[in-house]
Amino acid sequence: MTAPGRRPLLAANWKMNPLSAADAVALARGVLPAARRHGERVDVALFPPFPWLQAVGAELEGTRVGLGAQDCFWERSGAFTGEVSAAMLAGWCGWVIVGHSERRTHFGETDEDVARKAAAALAAGLRVVVCVGEREDQFEAGQTEAVVDRQLTAALGPPAVEDAGGLVVAYEPVWAIGTGRNADPPHADATMRVVRRGLDAALGADAAAQVRVLYGGSVNAANVRSYVELASCDGCLVGGASLKAEEFSNMIGAVV
Ligand code: PGA
Repeated sequence: MTAPGRRPLLAANWKMNPLSAADAVALARGVLPAARRHGERVDVALFPPFPWLQAVGAELEGTRVGLGAQDCFWERSGAFTGEVSAAMLAGWCGWVIVGHSERRTHFGETDEDVARKAAAALAAGLRVVVCVGEREDQFEAGQTEAVVDRQLTAALGPPAVEDAGGLVVAYEPVWAIGTGRNADPPHADATMRVVRRGLDAALGADAAAQVRVLYGGSVNAANVRSYVELASCDGCLVGGASLKAEEFSNMIGAVV
């Protein structure tokens, strides 16, 4: 369970869903009652696709529910067709995810790219969820700790301690994402402890204590408690189960 001073966070990564603004707004609306009911004890943030940020943001106005994008580019503006900068996002939302394994796998993002995105997003005043996690072959080869440590160290770059409050790290084993094969809590626990040690080393204990560490990968209403009750875990990053308002609402209730 989250240490005193850190509030648990449930983050909803909608990925490339839903297909219409109306459905996105309806999904956000469906989550609001549970988020309101438990808002004193758990932070909730929704990450819709770029085109729905404005409509979902309007729905969330006046609530404590956070809004974020799923990616950003590090340059502020210029000839980068198709990209959206962290500076642009800052006008529309308060959060962004960087380094999700789907970006690394399908779009070739490197640790260096992730570091530049994280730095640009923090500089733009966004809160940043940095994703790390090993592939299945790396898991099988017992390389989890080394992979996660490398990704984390690279993503933090030369860390600015004053930015630590805006930082969240999500440990998401690639083989657990969207597969229904959620990681055993002891594996998640051991790896989140690796993340916490890396944060301590990079930021110093005081700043690191402000950073939340999440687990992600096939989290649902039935298993969310087995993660959030771990001392190493400050919440979860949820994909598929966050697309069902009722299930995600139940998860919010299960965290508190
Ligand atoms: P999943 O996705 O919950 O559908 O496994 C998690 C994520 O990719 O963030």
